[in-house]
Amino acid sequence: MTVEVLNQRTARIDGELKVSGGADYAGDHQLPGMLHGYPVVSPVASGRLERLDFDAAMGAPGVVEIIHGGNFPRLNRSPDSMAEENKVGEVRLPFEDDQLHYHGQYLALVVADSFEHARAAALLVSIEFSCAPAVAGLSSAGEGREMDDEAVTLGEPERALVAAEVRIDAEYRIATEAHAVMETHATLASWQDDRLTVYESTQGVVFHRNALAQVFAMAPEQVEVIAHYIGSGFGSKLFMWPHSVITCVAARRLGRPVRTVLPRQWNFANTGHRPASLQRLRLGADRAGKLQAILHDALNETSPVEAYSDSCASATPSMYACDHVAVTQRIAEVNHGTPTSMRAPGEASGNFALETALDELAVELGVCPVELRRRNFTARDLASGLPWSSNHLLECFDDAARRFGWERRDPVPRSMRDGHELIGYGMATQSWSAMRKHCTARASFLADGRLSIATGTQDIGTGTYTIVAQTASQLSGVPLDRVEVKLGDSQLPTGPLSGGSMATASTLPAVAGAVREAIATLERLSIGEGGRFEGAASSALEFRDGRLWHGAESASVAELLQTLERGSVDAVVSTAPGDEQKRASFRSFGAVFVEVRWDPGISRLRVARVVSTIDGGRMINPLTAHNQLEGGIVMGLGMALFERLEYERDGRLHNHNFADYIVPVHADMPEIELVTLDYPDLAFNEFGARGVGEIGLTGVGAAVSNAVFHATGKRIRELPIRLEALLEQ
Ligand code: MOS
Repeated sequence: MTVEVLNQRTARIDGELKVSGGADYAGDHQLPGMLHGYPVVSPVASGRLERLDFDAAMGAPGVVEIIHGGNFPRLNRSPDSMAEENKVGEVRLPFEDDQLHYHGQYLALVVADSFEHARAAALLVSIEFSCAPAVAGLSSAGEGREMDDEAVTLGEPERALVAAEVRIDAEYRIATEAHAVMETHATLASWQDDRLTVYESTQGVVFHRNALAQVFAMAPEQVEVIAHYIGSGFGSKLFMWPHSVITCVAARRLGRPVRTVLPRQWNFANTGHRPASLQRLRLGADRAGKLQAILHDALNETSPVEAYSDSCASATPSMYACDHVAVTQRIAEVNHGTPTSMRAPGEASGNFALETALDELAVELGVCPVELRRRNFTARDLASGLPWSSNHLLECFDDAARRFGWERRDPVPRSMRDGHELIGYGMATQSWSAMRKHCTARASFLADGRLSIATGTQDIGTGTYTIVAQTASQLSGVPLDRVEVKLGDSQLPTGPLSGGSMATASTLPAVAGAVREAIATLERLSIGEGGRFEGAASSALEFRDGRLWHGAESASVAELLQTLERGSVDAVVSTAPGDEQKRASFRSFGAVFVEVRWDPGISRLRVARVVSTIDGGRMINPLTAHNQLEGGIVMGLGMALFERLEYERDGRLHNHNFADYIVPVHADMPEIELVTLDYPDLAFNEFGARGVGEIGLTGVGAAVSNAVFHATGKRIRELPIRLEALLEQ
């Protein structure tokens, strides 16, 4: 059986449900007797909670209970372990102390008979507090502390830097960014005796289940977490946040289901964000443009209650042929909510600094930026010493440069014009590590002839339902519309997080294994006693086009099961990465080229064109893969030009809503020309797929800032690029 028939532009099998409103998101579920939670949060970023007065709120219409520190049960903190799959967004339990650590921190949950009643009553809770000076942002946070386990030193970077003929030394800043998910976070919790069922908007039903089991000291089997559909997560829904715990406590206390749909504004406060970062990049090179030294020192903000590192420089030692590299990471506390993984965490930020610094080096040397990167291409991952499993970065440069028309670029800044507009061309390398985790899948041939696939990963909108169905259909010959896919439930066989761009590479091998195993079982049973081909040699059987063949005779799955008098034939298969990780380094690569236009007369900056070529291994479904990569490019435009979570001088959130937090809209959309190279990475998994969720974004910030320099002659080292920065003399 081969998988060559994959790589099909199959439309989403859940598309109709989504556009017709039939897809059930966490906040859509209703249960009999359900109550509604609405949070009361800290109005300030720093201080102490003195007293909460609930008298008015408890007397308000429909209010049933208010959950707060005074009546909250003793719970366990989650071990917060990635390996144990119980990592959480914030380890601190709700209401654990009286400190006000950040604006938007939960102080209570009002529970009422309707959302409106809960919201109205929440406004009646009076909060007495004392204020303390807040650390409002990274610029006033000091030096923070070093994450010792993240420091990497190859060779003698300091010495190599001093000895280099040409040096670059610059600082790069990125603002705090919000995930800005379309579907707000939501939890619906209900208890049946000692069992807990939770509908949650999560990128990891298994992680969420495990974390809740830890917090409530239950066996994982007693907890079920369901997320059939997710309206994007971007990292904010990878790990559990406190609203889920408070809602479960409320439901247990009241003996009724409780649903908390997090108000839009608090999605910006306490479900993570990309931390603001400050990075120093020092590059040393010879006159020919060969890198001699790379020193990358990063600092990111974290909250007072959690040590979150964004690992901004983690990819730097792997990117170019340079023997002398040092990277460090520091974190500094600010009075903001806890940061978390967001849209290519770390690498998107780190790559902005590295790829902008390389552009500065190219200018200094008078070398074409593409040529500079070609000269420093590395055929091995120098961080691990291992060869790449597959690396077609040079072809990405060539292909994207040709399609973009890079040869038309006059390297002199401000030299290219079109009427009133100055035109800038910029480019950057894209990259994202390829990860794979264990996965278990079940394949069941059903009596009605359908093939059912089940695994406890989830589809965060990226097309997982579709590629699982494609895989099962193509391996079995059962038509796509006769394949049923069950995802998003922790009761299913254990599946991976939908994060880190690893769901495809992790899930499909298990799905394929289960389908093959189910076919083998069906064959074995069919030649056994009472089977359709009783007594036949297994070597004489062939499963093809959804039927079992024996010579010229064949039977459908439905007929086989009927003969066997069985309702189904099932197989469960687990797969995990093997020791291939010891033999090669797995990473995806790409190149992105951007044209910006700056009209100084009316101070208008826009991105006119984006051309990208991505080497991400085999595309299982080019339609959904391109959707993701284009989505990544749009996120990159947001990072480059718009997205900035702003705080007041006292640390309070300023623009925590969709009116004031600017994301790219259709009017901002440039022409996007995307090509994916199709080099299956068969050392990684049998499908050769490395994943495409995040890489699209990783070079866009630098490519835009490099294009802005080319258009305007101004080197902007801060994202998002503000028009004010272009107007400053
Ligand atoms: Mo992604 S930041 O792993 O959802």
